[in-house]
Amino acid sequence: MISSFLHQSLFHLEPETAHNLAIRSLKSGLYPRVRLPKADLRLETRVAGLRFPNPLGMAAGFDKNGEVVDALLDLGFGFTEVGTVTPLPQKGNPAPRIFRLKEDCAIINRLGFNNEGHEAVGKRLDRLRGRKGPVGVNLGANKTSDDFVSDYCKGLKVFNSVADYFTLNISSPNTPGLRGLQNKYQLAEMLTRVGETRHGFSKPIQKPVFLKIAPDNDDRALDDIVKIVLNEGAGVIDGLIISNTTIARPSSLRSRDKNEQGGLSGRPLFDPSTKVLAKVYLRLEGALPLIGVGGIENVQTALAKIRAGATLCQVYTGFVYQGPGLAGTILSGLSAYLDQHHLKSLSDLRGQDARQFAGQA
Ligand SMILES: Cc1cc2nc3c(=O)[nH]c(=O)nc-3n(C[C@H](O)[C@H](O)[C@H](O)COP(=O)(O)O)c2cc1C
Repeated sequence: MISSFLHQSLFHLEPETAHNLAIRSLKSGLYPRVRLPKADLRLETRVAGLRFPNPLGMAAGFDKNGEVVDALLDLGFGFTEVGTVTPLPQKGNPAPRIFRLKEDCAIINRLGFNNEGHEAVGKRLDRLRGRKGPVGVNLGANKTSDDFVSDYCKGLKVFNSVADYFTLNISSPNTPGLRGLQNKYQLAEMLTRVGETRHGFSKPIQKPVFLKIAPDNDDRALDDIVKIVLNEGAGVIDGLIISNTTIARPSSLRSRDKNEQGGLSGRPLFDPSTKVLAKVYLRLEGALPLIGVGGIENVQTALAKIRAGATLCQVYTGFVYQGPGLAGTILSGLSAYLDQHHLKSLSDLRGQDARQFAGQA
């Protein structure tokens, strides 16, 4: 009850102020504890050599500077992704830059990679001990960088000893030119250079590397991305995260701020991001694992991502709307689903409905 009261109070504050307050209270341990279901071994998931105690993670952008890793894992998340982090600290775009679309259960943000930079975040992560689940580091490029790819390569080296996995975020809509890295020529060049950093450097980067893509890629762009990931990206990319926020504005949006510039997340992103997830799953034919993100807000939407082809899932906006008990609620729901259907693990469901979600059934 106390936790629900605190959560409701945050909604009366300006969105970025509420976010900063949530980070502060999680950091100081002042957030009321939530009741978690007993760990269920059937939910344990292995991806790219890592063990995830459950398949639900906190997506990038919530904990940009790695301040609340332990607190998020204590809320039941099986893993968390810090960042996006850029080599140099960066203030991001002018405020206001986060908008709550309440009637749509959505958010538009144009933060623009505000973060404390590699050095500060690296030091903070170095101090973490005894993590309950994998901690990923999501890498980006500084707005003023004249070589985006070298910014990602620097990140791989700086965080090599503290990250459990990496995400190359080439899909944020809020850094001009960044999403261009998804185009075939740029992506092929980027993955070649990342491969040189992973394997050619004196200390190889052995941590898995995931590539995070936008939901705004059409079929031809998805064909190119999959082809390049399997060719230039062989031995370089260990999985894909699908998806980041969208620059599209579905006609269903009702909230006042629906035309604000930036990336849209939450409920209206569920359909487009799940469609792209399913399309990539079908194209990959099992070659790489996928992490499904976009519009998860309950056990049904988490199960849908798995049915569309995800091995792991992440959530951000659903957590803002549903509050700190969300991970626990989804985990209990997943266990109950396994009980009801006499399943030993979620892997039996993976990709089962990919054709329907891809619009091919
Ligand atoms: C306020 C905000 C900030 C975000 N910042 C980042 C970021 O820094 N890096 C990134 O890869 N994704 C970022 N995202 C995108 C999320 O990680 C996620 O891909 C997207 O919001 C879809 O999931 P959701 O519908 O559960 O929110 C951000 C999302 C929000 C709402």
